[in-house]
Amino acid sequence: MIQTRFETEGCQTFLPEVPEAVHNRLNDAYLQLINRSGAGNDFLGWLDLPEAAGSNEIEDVKRVAVRLKELSQVVVVIGIGGSYLGARAIIEALQPHFSDLNPSPSAPTVLFAGNNISEDYLSDLQNILDKKEYSLIVISKSGTTTEPAIAFRILKQHCENKYGKEEAKKRIVAITDRQRGALKQLATQEGYDTFVIPDNVGGRYSVLTPVGLLPIAVAGYDIDALLEGAHRMHELLLADKTLQGNPAMHYALIRNLLYCNGKRVELMVAYEPRLYYLIEWYKQLFGESEGKENRGIFPAGCIFSTDLHSLGQYVQEGQRMLFETVISVEKSHHTLPIPFDEQDTDGLNYLQKKSITEVNHAAETGTRAAHIAGGVPNLRIVIPEINEKTLGELVFFFEFSCAIGGYLLKINPFDQPGVEAYKKNMFRLLGKK
Ligand code: PA5
Repeated sequence: MIQTRFETEGCQTFLPEVPEAVHNRLNDAYLQLINRSGAGNDFLGWLDLPEAAGSNEIEDVKRVAVRLKELSQVVVVIGIGGSYLGARAIIEALQPHFSDLNPSPSAPTVLFAGNNISEDYLSDLQNILDKKEYSLIVISKSGTTTEPAIAFRILKQHCENKYGKEEAKKRIVAITDRQRGALKQLATQEGYDTFVIPDNVGGRYSVLTPVGLLPIAVAGYDIDALLEGAHRMHELLLADKTLQGNPAMHYALIRNLLYCNGKRVELMVAYEPRLYYLIEWYKQLFGESEGKENRGIFPAGCIFSTDLHSLGQYVQEGQRMLFETVISVEKSHHTLPIPFDEQDTDGLNYLQKKSITEVNHAAETGTRAAHIAGGVPNLRIVIPEINEKTLGELVFFFEFSCAIGGYLLKINPFDQPGVEAYKKNMFRLLGKK
């Protein structure tokens, strides 16, 4: 049974009655997606990924993950954008806070590289790797992206110097295109274990391929449960195209109506800091999918209540171009009641015996009411708790909704022509031939 719910609150004030024409547009967008007839339909392989649970490839992913776990205290995942954010989103959502300081005894610490061009970052990482047993997972679909290519060149040499060339080969896994690109060529030449990123899956839709699954399995999390959650959401969204029964269509429609009524920025909010990278993943998914032809909602993100003390003022009273979508988590993993204090100098005894989650929920409910009153419509995506299944549901929910949203905007949600512009300038400045 699906555990994710989608709810809206305070939207009626901002939206006119939904005309029939809009329903028809939504229906067309849905049919374009499921009949695979819309723009970018050669990039719809992600629609089939939740079905992959139990396939030979998943077993290979688990086998290689076991090997890397045995060899390593640290596994460095090298990649950027879609070849990075999905794995980080799921791992950070599942792992306990402060796990760098308190590593799991049964799984290596997963670190990330190749997602920036910082000399200090790579130097500091090498200093850590000098003292740890480690392996590398390098991920690049094109096999030519500059950031991960630089990081991999440096870390490959570090690994070969530390372990020798033959041992290093056992410690490096490449995830890349089936045939093309420099990384594929190198992986074949060196004989690395290799997984394929399917041609018909774009980077930002690739978390349920080995791109996400291998790092997540290495970190010790249950990829079968993640795929099962995605599969359950997949079944629901393909079976029911009514607004009441299809939360992804409902979400896509409300977003589009808000956009057409001047709400140009979506603030994706969570009250659990462990969802920070899920929001980063959402930003990439929607930003790269919708932001083209001078259209699209700008996807922004916040962790509340942290950011209520920085951006909260703007949300409440700044320019009225925002709507807010909260990923609301019903249950925390731990219970920590606020204790009684004899002196009550801090005046907190009124909270005694309340759990911190109760206080967090009161902050959420109170903030929602304040923001709605201040002109910020609120949407809610509710999950009972954070685990592999609910994260799998969320991943597929957002991917599906993003695709429908793109078709509602009449753009191709699966390309990213604008990403090339900065690269051209950078290459020219660096003298690349
Ligand atoms: O979603 C995308 O397609 C991009 O964000 C890419 O994933 C990113 O640019 C990395 O590309 P590559 O995997 O080719 O190194």
